[in-house]
Amino acid sequence: MTTIIDGNAIGDDIRGELEGSVEVLDEAGVTPGLATVLMSEDPASSTYVSMKQRACEEIGINGIHVEIEPDAPADELFSTLDELNADPEVHGILVQMPVPDHVDTWEVLNYINPAKDVDGFHPENVGRLVAGRPRFKPATPHGVQRLLQETGVETEGADAVVIGRSDIVGKPMANLLIQKGPVGNATVTICHSRTADLAAKTRQADIVIAAVGYPGIVDGSMLKEGAVVIDVGVNRVDADNERGYKLVGDVDFESAREVASAITPVPGGVGPMTITMLLWNTVKAAGDLEGVDIDLP
Ligand code: GUN
Repeated sequence: MTTIIDGNAIGDDIRGELEGSVEVLDEAGVTPGLATVLMSEDPASSTYVSMKQRACEEIGINGIHVEIEPDAPADELFSTLDELNADPEVHGILVQMPVPDHVDTWEVLNYINPAKDVDGFHPENVGRLVAGRPRFKPATPHGVQRLLQETGVETEGADAVVIGRSDIVGKPMANLLIQKGPVGNATVTICHSRTADLAAKTRQADIVIAAVGYPGIVDGSMLKEGAVVIDVGVNRVDADNERGYKLVGDVDFESAREVASAITPVPGGVGPMTITMLLWNTVKAAGDLEGVDIDLP
């Protein structure tokens, strides 16, 4: 029997427990605050930010949302970040990526106060993660780690293949899996668009994590019997329905489920965990910045 890993259920459990941490902060007179900044007209980015804001509200995090016209000068974004960096009611800051071409992403990531960088993208936080002393683990790979943990997947000594080398998912994912400690100690291969024979790599893997944004790049014929498959991809493909599209992952779910021992669906797998772990990081940021001891789930 293949386990279909239910990210909604696992995410809901963690969010329920996070509400307890928010109550502890509340008793100390602290309301965690997350500021989201959107400088884009991309409908998908706008949807993601709205989902993040709604999730904040549901567990008692104060959501602050700032929209900046995509053709505004970069300075407008930086002065917004000045205000948010200095605002004591803001514990977490997230600039939704990508930003427009005339804004330097690297400069933006460097500009956010690292203690409020709940994405974990500031170079100081990236360095800490690589050094095995993370302050904030980026939400998507952290969410994948939790899915593996809650599903009881043994990572120690396992061969894991991460497909994708993005700063947001692929690189931090590989880093987390090689760290000493729980849901770590794996042997990790990172594959990408220049990998010579992807199937040869994935067929060796006990755990396959696909995060490239290419529908169907992995199918059942590329998997070892009993592999655990985590699909981070969210791709819009044309469909004969009201919306005219549907969401699919990077993995061909139907063929992969025949071979895998456990697999995440799209939607309903990794997606809800990304938002959950962003909330987790925001609650952690509030506790750290305000000096309140909280137990995080
Ligand atoms: N764009 C796609 N994923 C993310 C994310 O995790 N954080 C931010 N800030 N932007 C994104």
